[in-house]
Amino acid sequence: MIVGIPKEIKNNESRVGMTPAGVFELVKNNHTVCVQSNAGEGSGFFNSDYKQAGAVILDTIDQVYAMSEMIVKVKEPIAEEYDLIQEGQIVFTYFHFASSETLTKAMIKQKAICIAYETVEDKDGSLPLLTPMSEVAGRMAIQQGAKYLEKPVKGRGVLLGGVPGVAPGKVLVLGAGVVGIQAAKMAAGLGAHVTIMDINMKRLRYVNDVMPPHVVTEFSNEFNIRKHIKTHDLIIGGVLLKGAKAPNLITKDMLKEMRPGTVIVDVAVDQGGCVETTRPTTHEDPIYIIDDVVHYSVANMPGAVPYTSTMALTNVTLPYALKLANLGWKAACDKDETLRKGLNIIEGKVVYEEIIEAFGWEEVFK
Ligand SMILES: NC(=O)c1ccc[n+]([C@@H]2O[C@H](COP(=O)([O-])OP(=O)(O)OC[C@H]3O[C@@H](n4cnc5c(N)ncnc54)[C@H](O)[C@@H]3O)[C@@H](O)[C@H]2O)c1
Repeated sequence: MIVGIPKEIKNNESRVGMTPAGVFELVKNNHTVCVQSNAGEGSGFFNSDYKQAGAVILDTIDQVYAMSEMIVKVKEPIAEEYDLIQEGQIVFTYFHFASSETLTKAMIKQKAICIAYETVEDKDGSLPLLTPMSEVAGRMAIQQGAKYLEKPVKGRGVLLGGVPGVAPGKVLVLGAGVVGIQAAKMAAGLGAHVTIMDINMKRLRYVNDVMPPHVVTEFSNEFNIRKHIKTHDLIIGGVLLKGAKAPNLITKDMLKEMRPGTVIVDVAVDQGGCVETTRPTTHEDPIYIIDDVVHYSVANMPGAVPYTSTMALTNVTLPYALKLANLGWKAACDKDETLRKGLNIIEGKVVYEEIIEAFGWEEVFK
């Protein structure tokens, strides 16, 4: 198969769909990989690295789309790319169709085979191609939170680890899922006192088993949250209700209960956030302050660490890309139930129920 790796052209996206190691694997399996010139530069991979791994370097994005039977990328195609996508071409990337009717209609029109990273789903309901980005965001949440706790950026002026003779900072983590556990682990590593809350007792039992004693679990309810926000310096929002808006666990009136300079990093911002006052921000302008509480709510946190994020993403996407290239999409999806869940649009037909529901299209498709 001819596999194409275009340069991401979405604003501020420095990740790339495949590393030189991935190219090497595909070439070893007798496939041709066309990489757009400088596609990997933002992630620290250069044309020479790709060439050495066996890639063909093409000058333009048009050439990559025109040559390839399968496109492997990171973000959903943006308007400039729509017409480059060809009938029957496999596009393997994050799509998040339910959040864009325009994109969905464009992909229906192009009659491509759209396989979405975010809906590739294991038997146990976990989402293996989303997990690494949650891991990155969870760990990064503490790095960012620690930075914004500093006084010059309006934080409380607390050093998370404390020093001998001074108590460490306190971190409250809402949600003990992928984001929450990674955040708790990083905070604990810095020596902070950590409280982690969830409504899922299985998760809390797991955290209680694997974390050190200065990570304390507590059941998530309004009473407990109201109690802890008064004394914690950094609050991490990592809750998720699958397919729904995140619940507002911290309402606007609760900000007044917090001490000035408290920092909230609401990682769940991409699902509306679990804090009522959360609105999406960017890496250029990541924070804003309401009632003396610093809000950090960047919607694409992993984008700031493209080297790590590209490697983490491609580690999990490559086995599927390889399967698609080796077998073709039909046989690959027939054989692999997890990958089959990734099929969203096949040659103009939406096959992922939630997309049809999201746009109220049931009638049209009956
Ligand atoms: N901002 C970013 O750049 C970025 C990056 C990656 C992920 N995310 C987002 O972070 C969020 C968390 O992702 P995840 O992978 O950790 O999800 P996850 O499903 O692994 O974990 C979510 C946890 O929230 C818990 N939860 C649900 N309701 C709760 C409540 N009322 N109180 C406490 N906990 C509750 C669930 O039981 C679950 O354990 C998602 O919205 C995801 O999209 C954002």
